[in-house]
Amino acid sequence: MSGDIIGKVQSVDTGNVTITVEKEELLNSVQINQIVTIDSTKVNERIIGLIAKIMRKASSDKIDEGDVEVPIENVIKVVLVGTLIERSGTDKNIFKRTLNTVPSINAECHLLQDEELSKFMNIISSNSPNPLTIGKYTISENSNANLDGNKFFQRHAVIVGGTGSGKSWTVANVLEKASKLESINCIVFDLHGEYEPLKDFGNVSLLRIAGPSDSASNENAVFLPYWLLSYEEMEALLLDRSDSNAPNQARTLFDLIITEKKKTLEAVKDSEVLNNFTIESPVPYSIENVLAFLREKDVEMVPGARTEKQGPLNGKLTRFIQRLESKRSDKRLNFIFSSEQELMDYNWFEKLIGKLLHFGNKNGLKIIDFSEVPSDILPLITGLVGRLVFSIQQWMNADLRHPVALFCDEAHLYIPEKANGGMEEKGLHSFERIAKEGRKYGVSLVVISQRPSDVNKTVLSQCGNFIAMRLTNPDDQNVIKRLFPDNLGDFSEMLPVLDVGECLIVGDASLLPTRVIVDEPSIHPNSATIDFWDEWSKKKTVNGIADAVKALRMQHK
Ligand SMILES: Nc1ncnc2c1ncn2[C@@H]1O[C@H](COP(=O)(O)OP(=O)(O)OP(=O)(O)O)[C@@H](O)[C@H]1O
Ligand SMILES: [Mg+2]
Repeated sequence: MSGDIIGKVQSVDTGNVTITVEKEELLNSVQINQIVTIDSTKVNERIIGLIAKIMRKASSDKIDEGDVEVPIENVIKVVLVGTLIERSGTDKNIFKRTLNTVPSINAECHLLQDEELSKFMNIISSNSPNPLTIGKYTISENSNANLDGNKFFQRHAVIVGGTGSGKSWTVANVLEKASKLESINCIVFDLHGEYEPLKDFGNVSLLRIAGPSDSASNENAVFLPYWLLSYEEMEALLLDRSDSNAPNQARTLFDLIITEKKKTLEAVKDSEVLNNFTIESPVPYSIENVLAFLREKDVEMVPGARTEKQGPLNGKLTRFIQRLESKRSDKRLNFIFSSEQELMDYNWFEKLIGKLLHFGNKNGLKIIDFSEVPSDILPLITGLVGRLVFSIQQWMNADLRHPVALFCDEAHLYIPEKANGGMEEKGLHSFERIAKEGRKYGVSLVVISQRPSDVNKTVLSQCGNFIAMRLTNPDDQNVIKRLFPDNLGDFSEMLPVLDVGECLIVGDASLLPTRVIVDEPSIHPNSATIDFWDEWSKKKTVNGIADAVKALRMQHK
């Protein structure tokens, strides 16, 4: 494989070379991101590079003083990305992301075009192990763009792009491919209820965070009772740090939770857990009892030297009790504070985890609709789900552990760059932990966002794969530019000019950093871009106002 010769190597740097292009017409025909091959000193090997910059520069050493004509040099800068081994033993056409040799000065450089290019791109496609086909290469529309399905999830992935650039469709596309696998295990955090149509992929379990009118017996409703919250999450939900009595309230709550969990464990006679449990152990306890005790202590009188005096907590818990009571009676928080007996059952926790982590040829793809969760507690709740999944994986016997991927759509809402208040902090902490340690326990994050500059940098920097769709905002572009490897040069300059459904793919799952047209999923998410002018042009007689008003009042669709 060679292609048309375009020039010769002029200088070599680690990972980069400059090529002098002798014929000016050739310079006009090359474009950024085209693929070139450079002759290697080894037989049967070619060094593969991507054009990163095309320049015309004055060749200063040839300037003759007084001479008005400054000779011009046509130069292209090429980023070296790997080696094509045309033959090695019986193997043919193997592409490796390593460089066995660096090009020598004056080595010939060829541009891959037309048939040669599709031949090369087909080699790339067929060289990708565990292929997750995501689309077609923009430069060679007949070749499948394959990602390594292992590597894509192993080191977490990011899907970014402005609104309407095609992220949700890309997610649907990846999920569609994954849903064909025997034991898929994915959880989608669906913030707008837009992935519901994907149920027709089969293998899908549609779940939603329970609304005000849901009952615990409803299979699809996910309840997350208060007793699942860690002590710190409980504090973040209930404690007002600005209250001067906050330390007293926190201490009392801590003791009460321990006491009540102990009572449950005694009642169910689980002596093993009883001897080892901590405040963080997910064990049901009665919030009624907690409240009753708090109320008692809040008005308690104790014997004094002569008369009765106020007890040590007298009056100090009033505001805390009020907060707890108002949260309990808030219908929107039914999924946390519902008093249904079923949720207090000791074995209920296992059923919940079963819903979240079930895998196999039925229900392995779990889509959780978070659209009815109040936005102020959303980060706490998404974080809780993430933490439960991570903890179970962590405590599971390694031989039985089954890898799971969490698709976090609209991640800027709950994996923020700057956590604002306790609940966001706790939620964020869960995802940071997964980003840092998830790999070891088979928990993968797919962070999806239209505002990468608002997504937490620690989490983003742990991700090894990037699918970047059209981004026009300079702040967002800069975040992505910084996450791309340095040597890619001007590659990220393409971010604002990508078409809808087109992306740049960079990372260890992709053999080459490339521009890809993402396949349309066979079933579309409910995220259509609305054609205003067309809609306004139609004659319409019905509207949905009455239903919307009702749904808004009920806080439930
Ligand atoms: N791969 C694709 N091929 C063709 N059209 C696409 C593709 N991806 C997206 N589109 C078009 O763009 C529209 C919006 O796509 P999508 O809902 O995926 O955007 P998004 O990036 O998720 O936006 P948001 O950030 O607002 O959620 C789709 O309804 C569809 O018309
Ligand atoms: Mg979307």
